Amino acid sequence: MQITCKAGSPFATKSELLVLLHTTGEKLALPDSFAKALKAAKAAGDLPTEVRASCLLYPVGAARQKRLLLLSAGPKTDVNEDGMRRLAAIAVQRAEDLGAATVVLCIAEKLSNSMTPARLGLCLGEGAQMGAYRYAVPKKEKDKPAAVKNCYVMSMGGKAQKAASDGVKRGAGRGASVNFTRSLCNASGNRMTPTLLAKAAKALGNTKVRVRVLDEAQMKREKMGALLGVSRGSSEPAKLIVLDYKPKGAKKTLCVVGKGLTFDAGGISLKPSGTMDEMRYDMCGGGAVLGLFHALSSGAASSKQRIVGIVAASENLPDGDAQKPGDVVTAKNGLTIEILNTDAEGRLILADALTYAVEHYKPQAMVDLATLTGAVIIALGHEVSAAIGNDQKLVDEILERGKSSGDAMWQLPLWCVHKEQMKGKYADLRNINSGKADGGGSIAGAAFLSNFVGDTPWVHLDIAGSAWNAKAKDYYRGGATGVGVRLLIDWVASR
Ligand code: BES
Ligand code: ZN
Ligand code: ZN
Repeated sequence: MQITCKAGSPFATKSELLVLLHTTGEKLALPDSFAKALKAAKAAGDLPTEVRASCLLYPVGAARQKRLLLLSAGPKTDVNEDGMRRLAAIAVQRAEDLGAATVVLCIAEKLSNSMTPARLGLCLGEGAQMGAYRYAVPKKEKDKPAAVKNCYVMSMGGKAQKAASDGVKRGAGRGASVNFTRSLCNASGNRMTPTLLAKAAKALGNTKVRVRVLDEAQMKREKMGALLGVSRGSSEPAKLIVLDYKPKGAKKTLCVVGKGLTFDAGGISLKPSGTMDEMRYDMCGGGAVLGLFHALSSGAASSKQRIVGIVAASENLPDGDAQKPGDVVTAKNGLTIEILNTDAEGRLILADALTYAVEHYKPQAMVDLATLTGAVIIALGHEVSAAIGNDQKLVDEILERGKSSGDAMWQLPLWCVHKEQMKGKYADLRNINSGKADGGGSIAGAAFLSNFVGDTPWVHLDIAGSAWNAKAKDYYRGGATGVGVRLLIDWVASR
């Protein structure tokens, strides 16, 4: 589906579905054919006032539009950016349901005044693109592709046209990167192994983005004992994916690191089988990093700085060769780790990825994203990610970016008492705290990771709750959410 901004009058433009977004009670200037239909709808008490309520009108007499959907944004005072994303998604989905090939999104005057044209365009572009996403389920009989070929955003008029048009284009591009991430993450474990993830990453390589993949022999040379320890139980070899965006004149380097655990069975500390299939999503952190690079390589994102992405990709399975509770491994930075629970594997693969980032790239700032702990779901639920870091300025910066990108986050503390809990008895560190006695599992995970970032300002995002299973909200209809992609795009652009 093409999403573009178009100048001119929406009612003069031929379309199968025109969607008019408006605020509650807003007076709508409609041509005769629809004014009559509107009158009838009003008489029947069908005019939408509640947010996201709609009413479908058919023209009485000649019109260039087959149908007009009135779609309410609610009272003007309640209008917000996420609401606009949702409305755009609803519009595209109604077009899908109606089998319309062209949908025109048109914004009534009062509503268009509630945001800058650039932001409005951006949100509508994102919402339309994300709302159109459907995971292509591998079936013998493929699902019919949606009929919607074109989505036009219109009627933001005048001088603002250029800003609105740029916004729509940017939003659609960002949405495409979110959808790219969603498809990587929705794939089942056997269809998204570390090797296949590396292949998908390689395909992002172009003149802007360079992609390298380290195999296990190279990891051995890098002394990545923690990552290799996790991978031992699997016959699928681990991969360390390194993506490098280096614009001319870049003065700083930022690293983004992702957990790319393509399937987490727990290892010898086996998980219960009930919802184990969901552990296909354990690579959503890595998926978000690849989404950022999808945007950087496609031009949907840019930065003045050098951006290095690192995805640690592995499976975590039980096997005769798998690491066992009590085993001691040596991480790349020399610290020894007592593996007390093989299911706390994300922090192990990230430990070596973070050290690799710090030692090879000496970044000015680093962010990691990981589906690290079930505990974060207890703490914050499915709508919010946890942000934990060693540098309050950077934490604040990330929280701020999330407010405009739509990635909700909440900070959890990281104090000396938490780091104390991760000291080992038979090694420098232990990979879990003492469970129920200590509690605070998400903080414990971050406290463990803090041993591998040196002095680098760093923020860890635990996205185990928000990466899937969030509540459906029009532009998200189940499966992977693509959380973090827009956040990372905004972060690197702001540096
Ligand atoms: N991938 C899981 C975290 C997870 C669990 C994400 C449930 C989403 C839903 C992670 O590798 C893990 O298993 N963590 C353990 C840590 C524990 C052993 C300290 C957990 O959360 O149970
Ligand atoms: Zn695990
Ligand atoms: Zn995991």
